[in-house]
Amino acid sequence: MESREKERIYRLDREGRLSEAEYAKLIRDRDEEASELLAELAVKKRKAVFGDAVYIRGLIEISSICRNNCLYCGIRRDNRKADRYRLTKEEILSCADEGYGLGFRTFVLQGGEDPYYADDVLCEIVSEIKRVHPDCAVTLSLGERSRESYQKLCDAGADRYLLRHETADAEHYSKLHPKEMSFENRMRCLTDLKEIGYQVGCGFMVGSPFQTNETLAKDLKFIEMFRPDMCGIGPFIPHHETPFGGEKPGTVECTLFLLSVIRLILPEVLLPATTALGTLDPNGREKGILAGANVVMPNLSPVEVRKKYELYDNKICTGEESAQCLQCLEARMSSVGYHLVTDRGDSPEHLRKRTKKVSV
Ligand code: 5AD
Ligand code: FES
Repeated sequence: MESREKERIYRLDREGRLSEAEYAKLIRDRDEEASELLAELAVKKRKAVFGDAVYIRGLIEISSICRNNCLYCGIRRDNRKADRYRLTKEEILSCADEGYGLGFRTFVLQGGEDPYYADDVLCEIVSEIKRVHPDCAVTLSLGERSRESYQKLCDAGADRYLLRHETADAEHYSKLHPKEMSFENRMRCLTDLKEIGYQVGCGFMVGSPFQTNETLAKDLKFIEMFRPDMCGIGPFIPHHETPFGGEKPGTVECTLFLLSVIRLILPEVLLPATTALGTLDPNGREKGILAGANVVMPNLSPVEVRKKYELYDNKICTGEESAQCLQCLEARMSSVGYHLVTDRGDSPEHLRKRTKKVSV
């Protein structure tokens, strides 16, 4: 590593920002030594805020039915081979009950853009989970909706919303999505969610087709400016029944590098070591934690449907019961010196903002 690169890394550590051109250079010039230094600084920052705690989020995959046709995604509308399902309100509630018993205090309802979950249906599910488990956070990850819809869901009790921006470059966005979908609407959704008062998560795939160091630099600049409470990044993994089925997957190495960079930009961000990372490398999630991540998302979906929520090939954890998944992760995290914690794990920045509002 040249001294200029080292200087850049230390400056990122001190100031939490670089110019877009410098982000691109940081990515382009990276080597093992740079990655190691970044990981060391990222772990230090993460420890200062969160100690050795790793937060758990119980993922409930509520529907594999989707009206969208994203070119990378295994549950896209045009995949005729996909096995579709949707969970009823009762099934979702029973996943949450089981998760509660296991210690989960955050439930993430994730699914395709399934029109069945209109506002009234979804609001009822959210408010019922909050009624039965008032000490839990409900996170939604259900794609693009209107501002009014986001507002209603927030009023029904939803605390957080995950909507990966996928790429911060409009042209790149148009190469990953069909023309009915727009970068502008994606950004509109993210702004609306933030203004409404959700804890908001954005994110992107590492190594998606047509991604370059320059588009990644834009992602980092976007994250720096938008200041999400959560940020989901994981390697792109091709799904055989999509137009990108023959493309190369992203790498674990680049994902780990970017996890460390994001931790230095946002020391307080909730950063998952994703299932996609664990799919490409059997120890991917442990490596993610050692690069600066601090969240894992075990699967709480009913075992019968897990294989059907197939965004990419060879997804892990599709055969295990929720309890097994949790135990497995506990063992994995303690093997690298961390431990799972069961509190809600709200975004520190969000909590400060809320306290300020209340005390005014
Ligand atoms: N590989 C990796 N991640 C994917 N996602 C969708 N398809 C794939 C894939 N083939 C990610 C997207 C989406 C999230 C729910 O899963 O970033 O936002
Ligand atoms: Fe699901 Fe290991 S985390 S089985």
